[in-house]
Amino acid sequence: MASVKVDKKLCIGCGACASMCSSVFEMKGGKSVVKKAKVSGEEESCAKEAESSCPVGAISVK
Ligand code: F3S
Repeated sequence: MASVKVDKKLCIGCGACASMCSSVFEMKGGKSVVKKAKVSGEEESCAKEAESSCPVGAISVK
């Protein structure tokens, strides 16, 4: 089980997280919003992929 956070100040709204992991992230008003703050299994893996793909390092999964 991991906790997912998006730093809204860093997010530039690229949308990579929402497109690769739509059950955890969604775009609202041009920024990423966490739909599910506690993830496990497949959602945890895609959230971690999103974390490493975010161009500005705005996502933390731990
Ligand atoms: Fe924002 Fe990074 Fe997602 S810039 S939209 S948190 S991939």
